[in-house]
Amino acid sequence: MPKVTFTREKKTVECEQGANLRLLAMEHEIQLYPGMKRYFNCRGHGQCGECRVHVKGMENLTPKTFFERLRIAVSWFKFGHEHEVRLACQAHVEGDVEVLTQPEFNWFGERPLLKKAE
Ligand code: FES
Repeated sequence: MPKVTFTREKKTVECEQGANLRLLAMEHEIQLYPGMKRYFNCRGHGQCGECRVHVKGMENLTPKTFFERLRIAVSWFKFGHEHEVRLACQAHVEGDVEVLTQPEFNWFGERPLLKKAE
């Protein structure tokens, strides 16, 4: 069974192959949404972009959907590491991954997940 490590929360959980990352986080009381966005989001339809996470082990998630690519590409704020950012509601787990919830803005080009893991 794949393992998902939520680095900010220091919590590792096992899940079924193909589990939805957003639902998995919610099931284990991991807060994906910052502030009031926990109430005002698109409920997993890939439209609001508020469930974005920074992922290490991207190859162990299903490929980005067209709308996910579009949503990340047209985000008002750029993180500088969009290739490592996923919308949790659109990602399904196929292997072990590390996930950083609510990634900060990447003003200086660092890779936050790797920095946190050190
Ligand atoms: S919950 Fe809105 S994009 Fe994922």
